[in-house]
Amino acid sequence: MNIILFGPPGSGKGTQAKMMAGYLNNKHISTGDILREAQEKKTEMGQKASEYIKAGLLVPDKIVNSIIIEAIEKYKKKGFMLDGFPRNIFQAEFLASCIPIDKVVYINVPEEEILKRLSKRFSCKKCGRVYNKEGICSECQGELYIREDDKPVTIKKRIEVYQNEIQKILEYYTSKGLIKEIDGVGTPDEIFERIKTAL
Ligand code: AP5
Ligand code: MG
Repeated sequence: MNIILFGPPGSGKGTQAKMMAGYLNNKHISTGDILREAQEKKTEMGQKASEYIKAGLLVPDKIVNSIIIEAIEKYKKKGFMLDGFPRNIFQAEFLASCIPIDKVVYINVPEEEILKRLSKRFSCKKCGRVYNKEGICSECQGELYIREDDKPVTIKKRIEVYQNEIQKILEYYTSKGLIKEIDGVGTPDEIFERIKTAL
């Protein structure tokens, strides 16, 4: 199955995509994780993306679409959970021209909950896994850090960018009969059960 996990910053896309990819035995593809890895490795793409990520803005479609086409080519046999793509209507149309999508899960979380969650997130530098306290990653022993776009002012910007695009994306996938909306407030296990039921 090819599934999109759609939702605001901090809605738990990464958390749920990891759980779902394990459950469905398909591939978790996160454009944010891929971009951060490129930034860390200081590749040309990473350097181009950096200023947008730091400002909480969308990285240009051309860059992100090229990431997606490469990932899809690699994982189309296995199927995938897309986390963080598409983020605007042009990306959605580009995706439709590449591969069919089976479902779009919209994880709905209110802003006050997002701010609470992102203010205490620590991410692993090596594997991207998220935690809620400082330390090292229990999976790969990588160093935990606070993402550079998790500053309050940048979180606000990311939410604003998301709100500018959400309606068009929801309408686009609703017209295709693909949207399943779930309540994203609850424990990660509760949300996981809701997603499985919705699919
Ligand atoms: P990206 O990395 O995709 O960030 P995002 O969409 O803002 O989402 P987050 O990763 O912050 O949150 P999440 O929904 O994954 O939640 P998580 O599971 O971590 O993108 C970053 C940037 O890259 C963008 O701003 C843009 O610049 C660029 N970019 C990426 N894709 C792009 C694209 N397609 N086009 C253009 N630019 C692009 O959970 C959040 C926290 O909450 C964690 O601490 C977690 O432990 C906790 N948590 C999770 N679930 C629960 C729960 N049920 N209850 C309580 N806490 C929970
Ligand atoms: Mg994420």
